Amino acid sequence: MGNMATDIGLQPPRPSAIQVADPGAEVRSDREIILAAIERVLCGGHYILGREVESFEKEWAGYLGACNCVGVASGTDALALALKATGVEPGDEVVTVSHTAVATIVAIEAIGAIPVFVDIDPRSRCMDPNLLRAAITPRTRAIVPVHIYGQPAAMEQILCVARQCRCFVIEDCAQAHGAAIGGRKVGTFGDAAAFSFYPTKNLGAIGDAGAVVSNDGTIDARLRSLRQYGWRERYVSDEIGINSRLDELQAAILRVKLCHLDRRNQKRRTIAERYCDALISTGAVSPYAIPDTTHAMHLFVLESNMRDSLAGYLSEAGIATALHYPIPVHRQPAYVGRIAGADRLPVTEALYERLLTIPCHPDLTDEQVQVVCERLQAWSEPTSPVIQPPFHRSQGALS
Ligand SMILES: Cc1ncc(COP(=O)(O)O)c(C=O)c1O
Repeated sequence: MGNMATDIGLQPPRPSAIQVADPGAEVRSDREIILAAIERVLCGGHYILGREVESFEKEWAGYLGACNCVGVASGTDALALALKATGVEPGDEVVTVSHTAVATIVAIEAIGAIPVFVDIDPRSRCMDPNLLRAAITPRTRAIVPVHIYGQPAAMEQILCVARQCRCFVIEDCAQAHGAAIGGRKVGTFGDAAAFSFYPTKNLGAIGDAGAVVSNDGTIDARLRSLRQYGWRERYVSDEIGINSRLDELQAAILRVKLCHLDRRNQKRRTIAERYCDALISTGAVSPYAIPDTTHAMHLFVLESNMRDSLAGYLSEAGIATALHYPIPVHRQPAYVGRIAGADRLPVTEALYERLLTIPCHPDLTDEQVQVVCERLQAWSEPTSPVIQPPFHRSQGALS
């Protein structure tokens, strides 16, 4: 039997590994205040959809600059419920990308809608807005751009096509807490936006959690009903909903962590800048800094001609790596051959085998970052055939 971690492309970390993510570290450093929040919930005696959830919903909407927020049980539910609440119905087509977490497609199909793939832009690795028009048919009801790795998608162009084609736009913000375009936070551009608070996200719970934000009172009211059996009022269901409620414990912990989100995102960007500097002259390629966007740097994903060798080389120095994602959705067994647009994804195809995620989270110590930088600096590979202008600090887009 093969080694499972290696088979799916992950380099097994050594004991002293510098991890790609360390969700326990923030909990350890905020232990007292998190325990106090848990104690408050335990003593409150109200464990589902109570005051903590209400407060978190207000605080998260306020942080983003959105009018409304509805807490739900996961990011996948957030996306599915956002699609349904805006008016996407079974049989409607929803245009999105294959270069994403499979959850994006799971959510679309969960409500009976039909995903259609469009390719990505090689610089942002997000939906290519120039290809969008051609993917839209009379059955298209919505577009789901994914702000992948924390990089905002080209919302202005996407919204322009959506308006012309009368489609809803639901942003998948699962990886982009605090990312912005021109200072305006992602999650406030579309008709609604879905967030995941999975523990490794920039804002992470200690279990599953998610939220939908919107600026539309009707969508908000429908979401509140859909997340709880379609109830108009207790025990009266107006339509078929589900059980997808955010619990008090997760909301209380998210409120504690929200206070640190901006500082921690800034630390991610500072580490990313150091990596970008270290990668100059190595032949491997840093993420491209899209002007006028603020990257949430959920993941630092470089490009390499020799991805597997680079991963092995980093692993030898105790530096873990990961693949986001080892297989794009259109090539996964459950989806192969059945999603429209899957045969027109040359950039997705060219990129996915070249991408490597290296540790870039705010709980890395300076010494650990230095170890990664020194190891990267000593790397050398023939220059990439897919030429990406390297990141330059002077562009300031990561800061
Ligand atoms: C891009 C993207 N969309 C959706 C999701 C789904 O979120 P969750 O795992 O909370 O259901 C994730 C989380 O992994 C994600 O990364």
